[in-house]
Amino acid sequence: METIKLKKLIDRMTVAEKVGQLVQLTPDFFAQGGEITGPMQQWQMSEEQLGTIGSVLGTHTAEQVYTIQTSYLEKSRLKIPLIFMADVIHGYETIFPIPLALASSFDAQLVEEVAKASAKEAAEAGIHVTFSPMADHVKDPRWGRVLESNGEDPTLSAVLTAAYVRGYQGTDALAENKQRIAACVKHFVGYGAAEGGRDYHTVDLSDLELYQNYLPAFQAAIEAGAELVMTSFNTIHGVPATANQPLLQDVLREKLGFDGLIISDWAAVAELMAHRVAADRTEAAKKAFTAGVEMDMMSDCYLNALEQIIDADPAMNEQLNKAVFHVLHLKNKLGLFEDPYRGLTPENLAPRLLKETRLLSREAAKKTTVLLKNQALLPLQKKQKVALIGPKADSKDLLGAWSWIGKQEEAVSLAKGLSQKEIDLTILPYPDGKVLTAAYIEEACRLAEQSEVVLLALGETSEEAGEAASLTKLSLSRNQEALVAAVSQVNPKIATILFCGRPLVLSAIEPLCQAIMIAWFPGSEGGNALADLLMGESEPQGRLAMSFPRAEGQLPMTYAQLSTGRPLTEENSDQKYISRYMDEKNDPLFSFGAGIGYGQCKISKTQIVHPDEKNKPFELICTLKNEGDSPHTTTLQLYSRDDVTEVARPMRELKQWQKINLAAAEETQHSFYVTPEDFAYVHSDFSTKSDPGTISLYLGFAAASAKLIGTLTI
Ligand code: BGC
Repeated sequence: METIKLKKLIDRMTVAEKVGQLVQLTPDFFAQGGEITGPMQQWQMSEEQLGTIGSVLGTHTAEQVYTIQTSYLEKSRLKIPLIFMADVIHGYETIFPIPLALASSFDAQLVEEVAKASAKEAAEAGIHVTFSPMADHVKDPRWGRVLESNGEDPTLSAVLTAAYVRGYQGTDALAENKQRIAACVKHFVGYGAAEGGRDYHTVDLSDLELYQNYLPAFQAAIEAGAELVMTSFNTIHGVPATANQPLLQDVLREKLGFDGLIISDWAAVAELMAHRVAADRTEAAKKAFTAGVEMDMMSDCYLNALEQIIDADPAMNEQLNKAVFHVLHLKNKLGLFEDPYRGLTPENLAPRLLKETRLLSREAAKKTTVLLKNQALLPLQKKQKVALIGPKADSKDLLGAWSWIGKQEEAVSLAKGLSQKEIDLTILPYPDGKVLTAAYIEEACRLAEQSEVVLLALGETSEEAGEAASLTKLSLSRNQEALVAAVSQVNPKIATILFCGRPLVLSAIEPLCQAIMIAWFPGSEGGNALADLLMGESEPQGRLAMSFPRAEGQLPMTYAQLSTGRPLTEENSDQKYISRYMDEKNDPLFSFGAGIGYGQCKISKTQIVHPDEKNKPFELICTLKNEGDSPHTTTLQLYSRDDVTEVARPMRELKQWQKINLAAAEETQHSFYVTPEDFAYVHSDFSTKSDPGTISLYLGFAAASAKLIGTLTI
């Protein structure tokens, strides 16, 4: 439909109809039967109001979408189709590794492919918009939602956030390409900085921190064309983001140039009352709407109060029309006015899952698994006598949070994957999520004693990671540490395979394991992928997108810490008045970027070539040699330190990275190109620019171990 027609349509709408477009409800409101029960009754909603609603979230099947849309269109006066949204976070029905795992691939192309495949399955189930990507900057794994993040580095996060948007939306018009869906980047903003890592808790950020670390991923998503932005639950600058006008207008609209639809998070408008910044629903609706929230997700504030607010203040009509335009414009972009079903027909409502999508999930799991330690224990040898022990040994709880459509019974467990391999395998499973008993630990020790290698499959359950899953203790729970300790007494050849949605504290078990592999929540094909990796048929390629702390007391933490006035150095580590802990080291147990494969390579002949002309990039050259006799894939990471700055800057920041495949014994030359703009940062006057001076460059395979290779002068 042409824009002019959309505007004419808005002219024909009553205020009540306009308000309805700004409301999003769950499918149970649209249940068949015509009787007003359940949620509709609670909110004192009329049948007439239901006919004005703009959007539905969280449908389960194409059939459900088809039915709801059909009966809605029959009843609604203006026949404006509903727009269907859902949380398609790491896959729809075929589940991929969790976002934190995907981030650990350091592979934007993979992320884009995963998002594209997820969009296809979701679109075929009638979904038009996904509430993804999550662009929240995170430094605290006590917060369960780090699972949904791209990890602790703002540069990596920005690159991957944009990749998700490209993958979901594609580059062609959404109306024509019905296998793509619109992306909603969330949660604007600061949600990851919840105090103490407690979900929904207070956030207080300096503007400098906001601009430098929290906004870049949102900016990247917006530049990549994200159609929607979701506001966050938290306060920021003392005001909940959902009622924060300067944040939504000056920052999101003006500075970031966002021109799409702003939606609240679930019931966040009504929660303004719980925040105690609104006395009642009317005040909550007024504050959120005035701030700039255009669609009210699952609260009755707009539904039951916005019409009166607008009637009392006709000047607000302009803003109302603008918000309605954003909703209709999005529906139009998706082609819903021409085809409200977006390709669904009564004949094609059954799921059409593709084998290739499962294969992509398996590939993704291999590229996201992080091998953190390996004292020549892995890969397993053919015919080896292997014991597979622990609550995750035969668990299908591999999908992780936000896999609500994915079928757990169709996930491949580690036991299933390994049983197809040529090893002498004995499995001692245990119910996932239950405290390990002394009897089980005893039995595990008996089996371990008779085995050459022990695989301990341990970790979290999917309920323990994700939204509303904050923890104060990040070590292995339910006697799993006791299992490691007991088994290590009888057989030191332990490889721990860890299933988790966040960095855990592994300080107690790390010395007892000869190998540690982080499988995260690897998705539908997890067991198959891990079996391939454990057998050495593929090499683990993941590198940590988030550091694993030594202790919870170190949190929040990031490798990109500032120097402080009293930095800890090798020389002063015995002194007292230094920025350090008395009872723990400063650094993480495993740093951002860490991870190994089965091969090893070495960096040599590094050289920084200054350009002969201004405006040309600096070239950083190095040689990489595979020192092993099999192919090896590595992630070469370039970090920098701006040596003297106007505002204090991190000791190290990731600038660029390259995934490199090397044949056995191969030696290759690689170049990174950087310009002064790559070293721009936010100054105290909020301008983004680089300072003249020297930049130290570090090259390596993890943030902590990257070596200084020289400086350049800009
Ligand atoms: C979450 C959002 C999600 C929404 C809709 C909320 O609880 O914070 O991330 O998109 O629910 O399901």
